[in-house]
Amino acid sequence: LTEIAAALEATALAQFLKGSHWVYPLVNAGHLLGIALLIGAVVPLDLTLAGVLRRVDPAKVTALLRPFVIVGLVLATGFGSLLFITQASDYVRNPMFLSKMGFFAVAALNAALHWRITSANPVAGRLSAIFSLLLWPLILLLGRLVGYSFG
Ligand code: HEM
Repeated sequence: LTEIAAALEATALAQFLKGSHWVYPLVNAGHLLGIALLIGAVVPLDLTLAGVLRRVDPAKVTALLRPFVIVGLVLATGFGSLLFITQASDYVRNPMFLSKMGFFAVAALNAALHWRITSANPVAGRLSAIFSLLLWPLILLLGRLVGYSFG
């Protein structure tokens, strides 16, 4: 893993991003835009799927918000990976970053399986929505803390 991280960090793209005074902040802003879209859509969607917001039709809310969740995920993952390669060998040793990635994998899997869980067991489906509602803000918090965690 350490070798892969070092190789990623040595790529021309990583070196370019690291040395650039304006592309890196733009990539960072792209990451934040993805996060804003993702969390902004996930919160009302999960509140509906958890049964907290009852005056709306869950199928309609899902149809409306799912594309925002997907675009947010694509932007956050794409730009996040670019941020990652600039300092990959530090991030792969950073517990805060590693827990962020672990929870991210769990949250993404939970989102991908949500409808299967719901059709098998509606109560488990609601629990999956509540779980999601806790996981995404936790990932956001861990992401913000990464920057403070280098000693
Ligand atoms: C594969 C997916 C992702 C990767 C590889 C990734 C990677 C990164 C990296 C390398 C940083 C810079 C850390 C630093 O040195 O300060 C970062 C920042 C951050 N990430 Fe992610 N990230 C991903 C997904 C997410 C998601 C889904 C969220 C939120 C739910 C998130 C929230 C944050 C936050 C809040 C920051 C701090 C931004 C700032 O302070 O400007 N990340 N991410």
